[in-house]
Amino acid sequence: MGQLDGKVAFITGAARGQGRSHALLFAEEGADIIGLDICEQVESVVPPMSTQDDLDETVALVEKTGRRMVGVKGDTRNRADIQRALEQGLAEFGRLDIVLANAGIFAAGLKPYAQSEQAWKDSLDINLTGTWNTLQLTAPILVDQGQGGSIVITSSSATGRWITTNYDGGVDGYNAAKYALGGLMTAYAGKLAEHNIRVNTFHPTGVSTPMVANDHFATWVDENPTYMASWMNALPVESMQPVDASQVFLFLVSDLGRYITGQELFVDAGQTTIPPLGGGTQLNHQH
Ligand SMILES: NC(=O)c1ccc[n+]([C@@H]2O[C@H](COP(=O)([O-])OP(=O)(O)OC[C@H]3O[C@@H](n4cnc5c(N)ncnc54)[C@H](O)[C@@H]3O)[C@@H](O)[C@H]2O)c1
Repeated sequence: MGQLDGKVAFITGAARGQGRSHALLFAEEGADIIGLDICEQVESVVPPMSTQDDLDETVALVEKTGRRMVGVKGDTRNRADIQRALEQGLAEFGRLDIVLANAGIFAAGLKPYAQSEQAWKDSLDINLTGTWNTLQLTAPILVDQGQGGSIVITSSSATGRWITTNYDGGVDGYNAAKYALGGLMTAYAGKLAEHNIRVNTFHPTGVSTPMVANDHFATWVDENPTYMASWMNALPVESMQPVDASQVFLFLVSDLGRYITGQELFVDAGQTTIPPLGGGTQLNHQH
């Protein structure tokens, strides 16, 4: 028996990285998946973003577990895309139980900085407004269904450590959006609690996904030592693997987490609360 038998999860950013990992673990635990991913480059993001092939691979991997997945190419900035994915998924699976607002970009390092107003806008549009769109379109489905539910919004450990700026619109936009998600979570957790719908945010330290495991990010780390100074894990680990994040999600959305709502859950290797007395371990990805 799986911990999510008979459940259906909607996951944004499902083509690769953490979204794919969540889809796979949830499917192994018995859930069917509705996945949405942009599968296109956003101009202000320097490293390659996902492709249709990535999304197809996630669908194939989920199907290998014996569960089903509806994978839709679409943009969380566009409500019609989210709506289309939900309609297709509901037509196929008939219900919705879990929502992971996971899609995000890290549009750091677009040069010169004068150009990065676009990176600021894209970061807020995707990391904040895209998440708001996801909540707006999924919450009524869970309420109407009347059987509770669990929503997890992916924020970042950036909201728990001291941060600074290098005047980069992509980084400022990332941080501003990730902080704002906490407010959104609190409001939705409050509104939806009486329906037994739980809403939490997830704040990971670095996770080894294509967002950070790339040459551009490694160069950006080198060029921004002051910014990176606070990005120090107390535990001797440089970054988590996506499956480490997925295991926490499984706990949170399953019955084990049934009384957890309105929480900012930090899974950050001690980054935000423990002084790195042993020197700390920094995310780098330069090997
Ligand atoms: N990797 C890290 O170190 C780290 C740390 C803290 C928080 N996060 C957050 O974790 C989440 C998942 O990121 P990841 O690490 O798996 O990176 P990733 O780049 O591998 O995955 C993000 C996915 O979101 C998709 N996406 C981006 N914009 C979209 C949009 N508008 N509509 C639909 N899909 C879109 C991308 O195509 C990609 O497939 C993000 O919200 C990110 O900010 C990541």
